[in-house]
Amino acid sequence: MAIAAAHRTSVIAADNHILHRLHSLSGIVPVGIFLVQHLTLNSFALASPAHYNAVIDFFNETMPRHLLHILEWGFIFIPILFHALYGLVITAHGQVNVGRYGYWRNWMYLWQRITGIILVIYIAAHVWGTTISHRLYGTNLHYDGMVQYFGNPWVVAFYLLGITSATFHLSNGIWNFCIRWGITISERAQRGCAKVCAVIFVLLTALGWSALFAFR
Ligand code: HEM
Repeated sequence: MAIAAAHRTSVIAADNHILHRLHSLSGIVPVGIFLVQHLTLNSFALASPAHYNAVIDFFNETMPRHLLHILEWGFIFIPILFHALYGLVITAHGQVNVGRYGYWRNWMYLWQRITGIILVIYIAAHVWGTTISHRLYGTNLHYDGMVQYFGNPWVVAFYLLGITSATFHLSNGIWNFCIRWGITISERAQRGCAKVCAVIFVLLTALGWSALFAFR
């Protein structure tokens, strides 16, 4: 009985091997890939309002409804929900070592969790303010609608925080992913990977911020 109960508990526990692997993988495929694709498509606003509006029209008018819903649920909503919920379980069970050791890697470990929690709030507010509001109340997602949306400096500040949290979380996540999956084993490989991840962070943040300021 006691063994069965312990086993049941471990199925959802933060150290469950298979769930942890799935959580790790989902951060890259599909959630990480979606983040890069999402920032890239939004940056079309830098080219011109017409380029950005063409992207919005493609998803909201040209693409068949059922295909859009399959892509949204299969590749975006369900994977993000799984990653976020299991991420919260991991965070709740994790130990924060920064105060005791203060090593740079421990700070990164802590910031991975802090940005995860910020992202839960940010993604919920962002999806509500865009996709859900559009479908429920017909709010305008075209360029002029987004210019109005970002007319409020508090909304811009919130987006800057959200975008930076997402780009940090993904970049630092790639570094962790490479160790977890045995891609970077030696100290030297991990140092090299840290440099590549730092460059990814700078490039993705520049992409996200410049897309945002295209609406200002
Ligand atoms: C933009 C959305 C997100 C992306 C692209 C993303 C991506 C990633 C990646 C690539 C990893 C590294 C996987 C590994 O350690 O092997 C990771 C780890 C993690 N993510 Fe996310 N994530 C996102 C949202 C979230 C959210 C909303 C939470 C909620 C708390 C979260 C919590 C975590 C935690 C706790 C870890 C560390 C897991 C560990 O060290 O064992 N993530 N994420």
